[in-house]
Amino acid sequence: MDCVKLVFFMLYTFLCQLAFSSSSPHLCPIDQALSLLQFKNMFNINPNASDYCYDISTGVEIQSYPRTLFWNKSTDCCSWDGVHCDKMIGLVIELDLRCSQLQGKFHSNGSLFQLFNLKRLDLSFNNFTGSLISPKFGEFSSLMHLDLLDSGFTGIIPSEICHLSKLRSAYLD
Ligand SMILES: *[C@@H]1O[C@H](CO)[C@@H](O)[C@H](O)[C@H]1NC(C)=O
Ligand SMILES: *[C@@H]1O[C@H](CO)[C@@H](O)[C@H](O)[C@H]1NC(C)=O
Ligand SMILES: *[C@@H]1O[C@H](CO)[C@@H](O)[C@H](O)[C@H]1NC(C)=O
Ligand SMILES: *[C@@H]1O[C@H](CO)[C@@H](O)[C@H](O)[C@H]1NC(C)=O
Repeated sequence: MDCVKLVFFMLYTFLCQLAFSSSSPHLCPIDQALSLLQFKNMFNINPNASDYCYDISTGVEIQSYPRTLFWNKSTDCCSWDGVHCDKMIGLVIELDLRCSQLQGKFHSNGSLFQLFNLKRLDLSFNNFTGSLISPKFGEFSSLMHLDLLDSGFTGIIPSEICHLSKLRSAYLD
C-alpha cells in the first residue's frame, strides 16, 4: 500500500515538474521575433562600420561587437543581446543596438516599425549611410528615448518625431 502511494507520489511530482518545465516562460511573441530577424537580415556586419563608439552619458569609449549575430529562432527573442522585453506582457520594449557593426540602408518599409511598443531605441554608432530618418519613427507612440547618433542618417528630422508625446531624450545628428 505504502509502496503504491510512493509510486503515485513520484508520478505526481514527475508530472508537476514536466508541467512546470514545459511552461517555462518563452516570452517573445513570434511576430516580434520575426520582425527582429527581418530587421537583422537587412544589414551586413562590418567591423569597421563605426570607427569610434562611446557611452553617451559617461563619454567612456566602448568596444563595438556584432550583437545581432547570434539572434536566432531557437532561443527566446527576449534573451537576445540588445533586446529587452516587458516581463509581464512579453513585448519587446527596448532595443539597444549601439555599436553593433551594422551596415546598410535603412528602409522605411523595414520590420523594425512593427515593434510598436518600443520605449527605448538605440541605433547609434552603426553605418546606415545614405538612409533618411523615416517619418515612421513617429509611429513609436511609447518611445521615450531615441538615439541615432553617428549612425549615418541624413536629411531633415521628420516632424512626426517631434509629436512623440512621451519622448524624453533624442540624439540625432
Ligand atoms: C576593415 O578595416 C581594415 C583595416 O583598415 C581592412 O583591412 C578591412 O578590409 C576592413 N573590413 C571591411 C569589411 O571593410
Ligand atoms: C559605410 O557604408 C557606406 C555605404 O554602404 C560605405 O561606402 C562606407 O565605406 C562605410 N563606411 C565605413 C567606415 O565602413
Ligand atoms: C542560436 O543562438 C544561441 C544563443 O546565442 C547560440 O548559442 C547558437 O549557436 C545559435 N545558433 C545558430 C544556428 O546560430
Ligand atoms: C523595401 O523597400 C526597398 C527599397 O524601396 C525594396 O528594395 C525592398 O524590396 C522593400 N522590402 C520589402 C519587404 O517590401
